[in-house]
Amino acid sequence: LSGRPHRYRIEIGEGLLSGSGDWAASVLGEPAARAVLVSNPKVFGIYGKTVEQSLKAAGFRVVVWLMGDGERFKTWRTAEKLIAELNRERVGRNDIIVALGGGVVGDLAGFAAAIHLRGIRFLQIPTTLLAMIDSSVGGKTGVNSPSGKNLIGAFHQPSGVLVDIAVLETLDEREIVAGACEAVKHGVLSGSELFERTRSALAAGWRERNGAATTVDLLAEQIAFKARIVMNDETESAGRTDPRSRKILNFGHTLAHSLEKATNYRHFRHGEAVGYGIMFAAELSKRLELLDSDSLNLINDVVRSLGRLPRADRIGPDLIIGNFAFDKKNIGSELHWILIRGIGDPVVFPGSKIPIVQIRDALNTVSRKT
Ligand SMILES: NC(=O)c1ccc[n+]([C@@H]2O[C@H](COP(=O)([O-])OP(=O)(O)OC[C@H]3O[C@@H](n4cnc5c(N)ncnc54)[C@H](O)[C@@H]3O)[C@@H](O)[C@H]2O)c1
Ligand SMILES: [Zn+2]
Repeated sequence: LSGRPHRYRIEIGEGLLSGSGDWAASVLGEPAARAVLVSNPKVFGIYGKTVEQSLKAAGFRVVVWLMGDGERFKTWRTAEKLIAELNRERVGRNDIIVALGGGVVGDLAGFAAAIHLRGIRFLQIPTTLLAMIDSSVGGKTGVNSPSGKNLIGAFHQPSGVLVDIAVLETLDEREIVAGACEAVKHGVLSGSELFERTRSALAAGWRERNGAATTVDLLAEQIAFKARIVMNDETESAGRTDPRSRKILNFGHTLAHSLEKATNYRHFRHGEAVGYGIMFAAELSKRLELLDSDSLNLINDVVRSLGRLPRADRIGPDLIIGNFAFDKKNIGSELHWILIRGIGDPVVFPGSKIPIVQIRDALNTVSRKT
């Protein structure tokens, strides 16, 4: 990923974890310092020792710090505990944080790296499909707060990202579906080429069907798409509403964040909520006569082909709609929706131009698509 002012390497392949120490040393390009390896008990239990030993073999002194597993631990409180540990260990500017885990670990570790001593370097080793194609790339870090998801955070680009697809083998099917939803989001935004490739590669059961080369290629393209958008608008400029602005990556996320908040971040995996969000944004686009029904059906079919999503039909529509107001895509007082005119044709649409009845009807249609 190269851009002004940040440039870093994203390495992707199979079986890379055992070389993560040498990779870290080469990415940092200077004598090894201390590495604070941030993970959670589950991921560390499976992959932690491999990474820890590899870092040590490459000359790093390693401090391991584990956080609780799950979205509910992506909080200011957890970040504060990590910062306290960094202070206790006197972690300085030559030291690094290595995030080993999914988006929760990556967002929190990256946030701590962003604010400790006004920013120290960090490396991402994403271990979920979602983190590989989405959260580990682009430099958005942060934590949740009572007002909503990711409302506290910082832009802080990693110094490198290491994607080892071998770790997907131990990932639960639900997590795979969640990551696949974000991949479909990229496909819808990018255009028919990536959309088709994503759809044929990720339909249910793909781990058994696809060889490593297919998976590496798809993930590389997915990451390249996100990187292209981010490069062009690294800090998501508030004023930009063009179809290549970073804002478009929020496609499906206004509903997703609202569903997650309405269920206290316990019922949906983030990516699963994005699955509903994609179908909702497409449905709304159709109702506003931006999108034709063939494209709507195609998008719905692809999301549903990924696997089962948890039910959404028991959550009150007023609660969901009430939460929209908290969403970050508010510019000034106005909510902006990312809608589509077709595959590969996103548009930033002012909320004031959407009758509330359309939102209610679209919600009603989509929440029943379990
Ligand atoms: N920063 C960004 O740009 C960005 C983008 C998208 C999402 N996010 C954030 O990412 C978070 C979601 O990330 P996620 O979906 O990766 O969830 P997660 O980090 O909670 O991981 C999901 C589960 O999988 C387990 N796990 C991780 N890797 C594993 C492996 N290889 N084998 C077995 N189990 C494994 C984890 O312990 C966890 O229980 C949300 O907080 C979301 O806001 C951030
Ligand atoms: Zn997302």
